[in-house]
Amino acid sequence: MNAKDIFGIKDLSKSEIVEILTEADGMRELIDMGERTTDLRGKNVATLFYENSTRTRNSFDLAAKNLGATTTSVGVATSSVQKGESLIDTGKTLDSIGMDAIIIRHPVAGAPRLLAQNVSASVLNAGDGMNEHPSQALLDVMTAKRHFGALNGLKVAIIGDILHSRVARSDTLCFTKLGAAVTVCAPYTLLPVGMEDMGAKVETDIDRAIDGADIVMPLRIQKERMDKAYFPTIEEYHRYYGVTEERLANAGGDCIVMHPAPINREAEISGDVADGYRSVIYEQVKNGVAVRMALLKLLVRR
Ligand code: CP
Repeated sequence: MNAKDIFGIKDLSKSEIVEILTEADGMRELIDMGERTTDLRGKNVATLFYENSTRTRNSFDLAAKNLGATTTSVGVATSSVQKGESLIDTGKTLDSIGMDAIIIRHPVAGAPRLLAQNVSASVLNAGDGMNEHPSQALLDVMTAKRHFGALNGLKVAIIGDILHSRVARSDTLCFTKLGAAVTVCAPYTLLPVGMEDMGAKVETDIDRAIDGADIVMPLRIQKERMDKAYFPTIEEYHRYYGVTEERLANAGGDCIVMHPAPINREAEISGDVADGYRSVIYEQVKNGVAVRMALLKLLVRR
């Protein structure tokens, strides 16, 4: 890869995705052996999150430390952003302090690209509005590939709040680039236009979406992005769109359940499915550190 930044899966070729996954497999081996590298020794990495995060922020931070970098977490709530400092001015400040990479999560689609146009540091998109969440998609395909061996021909059902989900967009692009067939499923009110253009089949019936699926991925209802009622109640949503053991009876025999998390039990997923034998949710989290180590190594060490 020659890139300095990563904004989305949209910009990556299949061979670039494979290169990242190969690097991530090596990083996962190191993690499993309890080892670290010095690939980014002397480099400084900042996390700049304008939205909440548990997994992405902490796994990027640990990934950078595992590569020997120093890390700084910019607390937006306690930074000069609260005094009105713009994204560009904040970015230029971090650049001047000496950051080699800025990992940004922002509620506005395109904010990482705007930042990258104004700093010399590498910019890694950790989720921009309803646009993309590339490192999540990469850790999801890594988890699926390690489980099944290959993705070609696998059937993936992504079910839930597709409209507000950057994960649905990035995962659709990533899984289809690697040869899997993706179906996205939601009530009409939570289905955006354009998913077919990304390579997904669109479905409103959850049982048809799950039928024969190798991977079922429920998505959280993103109440924080909703300004109106998209369905009557959570109970009713769960009755019609919740992923339950009963519904998984029609999935493929070796079906796994993935979820980007955070999960809302008894909303998009029942507790017994989240904790059940098909669930690889914590394997996804573990692979997240490896994928983010791979991204930092490939983008920053230049
Ligand atoms: N999946 C994900 O992005 O989780 P966080 O919001 O906790 O980072």
